[in-house]
Amino acid sequence: MARELGDSLARNVKIIPWGKTVAILDGENLFQAIAEAEIPLRAACGGEGACSRCKVLLKEGRILPGSPGGLTGEELAAGYVLACQSVPVEDVVIEIPESSLAGRYRVVLSEPGRGIGPSEPLYRKIKLELRQPSLDDPRDDLGRLLDEVRFHLGNDRIKASLDVVRSLPGILRESGWIVNVSLAESGGEAYIEQVEPVSDSKYYGLAADIGTTTIAVCLVDLDKGKTAAVRGAYNKQSVYGDDVISRIIYSGESKGGLKDLQGAVLATINGLVFGMLEDLQISSEDVRVAVCAGNTTMTHLFLGLDPAGIRLEPYVPAANKPPPERAGKIGLEINPGAWVHCLPGISSYIGGDVTGGVLVAGMAGLEETALFIDAGTNGEMVLGNREWLVGCSCSAGPAFEGNGIRYGMPAAEGAIERVFISEKGLKVEFRTVGNVPPVGICGSGLIDCLACLYREGVIDRAGKFILKPENPWFKEGDEGPEFILARVNNREITISEPEVKNLIRSKAAVFAGIRSMLKTVGLPVEAIERIYLAGGFGRFLNIRQAVAIGMLPDLPEDRYAYLGNSSLKGAVQVLLSKSARKSLEELSGRITYLELAADRTFYDEFVSALFLPHTDLSLFPSVNFQ
Ligand code: FES
Repeated sequence: MARELGDSLARNVKIIPWGKTVAILDGENLFQAIAEAEIPLRAACGGEGACSRCKVLLKEGRILPGSPGGLTGEELAAGYVLACQSVPVEDVVIEIPESSLAGRYRVVLSEPGRGIGPSEPLYRKIKLELRQPSLDDPRDDLGRLLDEVRFHLGNDRIKASLDVVRSLPGILRESGWIVNVSLAESGGEAYIEQVEPVSDSKYYGLAADIGTTTIAVCLVDLDKGKTAAVRGAYNKQSVYGDDVISRIIYSGESKGGLKDLQGAVLATINGLVFGMLEDLQISSEDVRVAVCAGNTTMTHLFLGLDPAGIRLEPYVPAANKPPPERAGKIGLEINPGAWVHCLPGISSYIGGDVTGGVLVAGMAGLEETALFIDAGTNGEMVLGNREWLVGCSCSAGPAFEGNGIRYGMPAAEGAIERVFISEKGLKVEFRTVGNVPPVGICGSGLIDCLACLYREGVIDRAGKFILKPENPWFKEGDEGPEFILARVNNREITISEPEVKNLIRSKAAVFAGIRSMLKTVGLPVEAIERIYLAGGFGRFLNIRQAVAIGMLPDLPEDRYAYLGNSSLKGAVQVLLSKSARKSLEELSGRITYLELAADRTFYDEFVSALFLPHTDLSLFPSVNFQ
């Protein structure tokens, strides 16, 4: 049923300070109203009433009393309610406090296509001059065209649809047998998509990095190989849960869950694409191909594939290498006939975002041994060189993406990205993304925080607070003492002891994953000659601090390199270059996946790494210990 303001079945929800009013149907809750208004609300538990992050202030109107979740008596008395538990019974006015906002997402991208010239892109136009038919050469129009294309491509597997054949007699004769032929590559075959008179009309490809938290897309001019526009946004799936596991559960347990999730990711991408097309004054028809890179769950949800097997032992997905599909069949709003390709993964927990990153790092061709790390929710990594490659996913947990931490958030505007603590914990300073007042703290800020707290003697090696009465930055919170990282306008951003321990578990999982891979191939840490860091997380990361907490190996800083959004860059490479497609296919078949879930070595390494920086201090010779 369409929602209309003024509809008798609808309640109007006015949201301040946005001044937006949206209509929701009888029985829908405030959480759904806020999602409808496209305001990024925090929702770690996916609307289960368990995380209390979706707190809003009810200013006017009545709601059905729902679960108060973890709201305090003071908050309830002030009029706060959980958006996901509150169903309006009349028109209401609500205010969303800053602390409930997911923050504005800023794309942290340099030019994703820089340095990649077009070399046989996935979709291209070639100009062909055909011999005119004669009594000596009476080949039919289609046969004549196919012969010429075969000759040009050196490929026998050429296909043309009946629509293309229908257009041939007119176009070939009207254009004097000189035409532009549009070719799309898919599954090793070349499809003749269109035959038209010669013109210099532009055509584009879409590359997308479908992340669990954020999505980044770019439009690429396929003729010139240039990026025309880049955009990013929060993944609208976030309202169904913060991490892949909660979304897999939602997809399986809620009626229409898979459709909801596919609809949410498509709505995010389509919205971003629409904005780029409007800015550039391009028709969606001119976007002729798309390449998407995401973790295995995101790829499944984007394509509408059941992700249930990813979560259940033996962790088998529907497909690691899903076949290409036409955009119109998926619901991607570009040219409906455009092929949509997804980068291949190798397992349920190493997806196309990682293989794309390994492609960008060029590891499969390196003589030296290199390590690729994307320390997002799962801490995915690949170790190796041109002889061998092993990969693993170490369930680091989402702490470094800001989840599981009360004030945690992605590296969006207002996130504390750097923390400086000195004078034995008495002086605390910070820097935020965008230099705006702090809203929360992101992964790089949390790593700084952990390193500084330990170095300044505020926590011990196990992450336990060393309380000193003279330190004004300690306060008593709901679950024990908390350390105040920022205090602005009566608002505090704090970290508690359980959160510190949560971070230590995450960093321990990453380091244990690295050590497990090294042990499997019988190499010491020093054998790693290059370390590539990927994702928005790496952008602001202070390497020395990550080493100081024992998350990354204690190796010279010049061995580390930041790749940026390598998932998006990988998608662009695949869009533009045939040799990149070949390399990706080759490397994705070559990565040996290590399943760490029941691995004794991983468990032992994990336990050893549950201290700052590690139980074995000889692994961190450059770190100054307390
Ligand atoms: S309590 Fe509402 S989203 Fe978690």
